Amino acid sequence: MKLLREMNVKNKTVILRCDFNVPIKDGYILNNDKILASLKTINYLLSQNSKIIIMSHLGKIKIKEDLKKNTLFPVYNNLKKLYPNIKIFFCEHTKGKHLENLAKNLKEKEILLIENTRFEDLPAKKESSCDLELSKYWSTLGEVFIDDAFGLTHRRHASNYGIKKYLPSAIGLLIEEELNNLEPLMKPAKPFIVIMGGAKAYDKILLIRNLLERCDYLLLGGGIANTFLRVNYEIGKSLNSPEYINEVKELLLKYPNKIIMPIDVKVLNNEEVFTKNINAIYKEDIIYDLGPKTISLYEKYINKSKTIFINGTIGLYEDKRFAEGTKSILKICSLSNSKCILGGGDAVASSSYFNIKNFDYLSTGGGATLKYISTGQLKSMEDIC
Ligand code: 3PG
Repeated sequence: MKLLREMNVKNKTVILRCDFNVPIKDGYILNNDKILASLKTINYLLSQNSKIIIMSHLGKIKIKEDLKKNTLFPVYNNLKKLYPNIKIFFCEHTKGKHLENLAKNLKEKEILLIENTRFEDLPAKKESSCDLELSKYWSTLGEVFIDDAFGLTHRRHASNYGIKKYLPSAIGLLIEEELNNLEPLMKPAKPFIVIMGGAKAYDKILLIRNLLERCDYLLLGGGIANTFLRVNYEIGKSLNSPEYINEVKELLLKYPNKIIMPIDVKVLNNEEVFTKNINAIYKEDIIYDLGPKTISLYEKYINKSKTIFINGTIGLYEDKRFAEGTKSILKICSLSNSKCILGGGDAVASSSYFNIKNFDYLSTGGGATLKYISTGQLKSMEDIC
């Protein structure tokens, strides 16, 4: 893969693909770590007097109502605060004359942020299904393409994969740094454990099969744990992905000693919190955290490990009643002698929330990092660079 420093970007119009898919509520960015992680590349381009056109996706765009809540306008405001002395433009269209004029008139050391590339997913999923006509169109806006959206390397979009077919391309400083820092997970010192939680079970269950081939133990929490637990236990009204039940059953049969699940949990029932053994859950209970016996069990695995990768969060940590699992597991990992890497917005945000940050590396990739360590692939870069 060609690196940014090997590419002549001096005074050129550079299309920079970032991953600015940050959590936003009521127009406010809750965590801008991913934006901050992109600054090194932006700063480098500014130092080269480039004209910088930034593209990014934000959320999923399936229906018209998704457009308003997924505008990149808050990111534009954030960039303006980060670069008070740089002229930054925002184009609310992803195609058309206005965009073309803004791109054409951009001067050196100026930045143009284009609206959410996934706006092009309505109605025909052109961005997410990598429509090459769209890639070709976007490529005409610049002279060079730099891919720095590490968090999206597990997907082929028109704006990260397709566009490379039409412009001289390289990876940015963030992707380069990510690949260097994730190296210990590609040939991990053993025992290698993966701690996986979070709500996005549907995204991860298919990756778990590959991951189980590579890791020694998979410690589960969150919605993913519930999906595995429901094979043998009542899980009440807890978040889970029933559509994967057959895959999960198969995995439990194939890897009975590798998949480690909660033995006790904290549940909410009628606004009351209870700690329960896993075989004592009622139909009305909602599991929101690990119980103390599970934390001790997981601690034993963590302390025996040499490499740890954490993705997602163990419990509903923003609610004080369910914070203990996520906090304890982060603390235990941070104090262990293992090489420990966190990946994904939620895991990194939880470490900031509890101010437990002494890990070997914090990766901006959630799904991307999981995919990379479980298959060794970066889908957005294959066949091209
Ligand atoms: C992420 O936040 O994991 C990346 O930006 C990818 O987002 P996606 O899961 O919506 O494709």
